[in-house]
Amino acid sequence: MKLKKCQITDPECHLDVIQEWHGDLESNIATLIENLKDIKNHSRAAKSAFSEHYAKTVELTKAKTRFTYEVSHELKAPLASVYNILNVILDGYLEKDVKRQKELLNRAKVRINDVIKLLNDLLIFSHLEEGTGEIEIEKIDTAELLSSLTEEMDTFASENNIKIDWNLSDGLPHIYGNPELLRRAFANIIHNAIKYSNSGNQVKVTGKKENNSFLIKVKDQGIGIKKKELTKIFNIFFRGENARPEHKKEGMGLGLSLVKRIIDAHGGSIKMKSKLHKGTTAELRLPAIQKKEK
Ligand SMILES: Nc1ncnc2c1ncn2[C@@H]1O[C@H](COP(=O)(O)OP(=O)(O)OP(=O)(O)O)[C@@H](O)[C@H]1O
Ligand SMILES: [Mg+2]
Repeated sequence: MKLKKCQITDPECHLDVIQEWHGDLESNIATLIENLKDIKNHSRAAKSAFSEHYAKTVELTKAKTRFTYEVSHELKAPLASVYNILNVILDGYLEKDVKRQKELLNRAKVRINDVIKLLNDLLIFSHLEEGTGEIEIEKIDTAELLSSLTEEMDTFASENNIKIDWNLSDGLPHIYGNPELLRRAFANIIHNAIKYSNSGNQVKVTGKKENNSFLIKVKDQGIGIKKKELTKIFNIFFRGENARPEHKKEGMGLGLSLVKRIIDAHGGSIKMKSKLHKGTTAELRLPAIQKKEK
């Protein structure tokens, strides 16, 4: 700022200079205040980004620890049981009872098979979770895929005194996908609907083409899911309060987390609606191949 020069005897000129200087000072102070406000806002944003990041890191670390705990827990019981069976046989307690030895070895075989299934599911889960591994894709006839499931699902349903009502429209679309993974996803959803139903209930499976998607809807009249739990059901190892072993519902909480990742990897979506004690509806949508694409 350049101040004007005044005669020593000219008080009015001095007053002008002082006012000009004062005005400048005021505007500088205002700019300074704005800058300080900016700095404060930036540091607030940085602090909240940091807290968010920190909370996420803590959450991930906890999830990792829980994951290790759950997997170890699930592996420990069957492996301990196989170990005990082998010890009984090797120690010669059943030397003369070949029939009993066979029974125990068969039991061990079933437990080992469960472990292999679990490890297989975990491998698929981490492969999809990383999102790096390719999945092999081919053109799938959804009608064929669903009909390959009906016998197995009907058998499981009738063992539980449940009836499946299959509503599969004519002209079901083709989709691109991995048949093994998608079969697993559909089977898991129908399996849940049967497992969480009450004896005598009905499960309705609808398959149709809707807009540009293949839609499969599985509706049951079973135990339902608590509203506050609905947001958690795709988390690995999550099990609803009413779905635990004390209610005679076996499981690990792995099925839906796998289904979600399979459907996501196929560019589809999954929605679950539920009312406690009334029933649950799962809706899976996958992009259909349009006629001219075939
Ligand atoms: N159709 C359903 N009706 C009621 N609850 C359901 C239904 N489907 C899923 N759930 C709830 O969601 C939870 C997670 O389901 P998910 O399939 O992942 O695990 P799970 O069935 O408990 O065990 P797993 O599938 O590993 O054998 C279940 O424990 C249950 O609480
Ligand atoms: Mg399940």
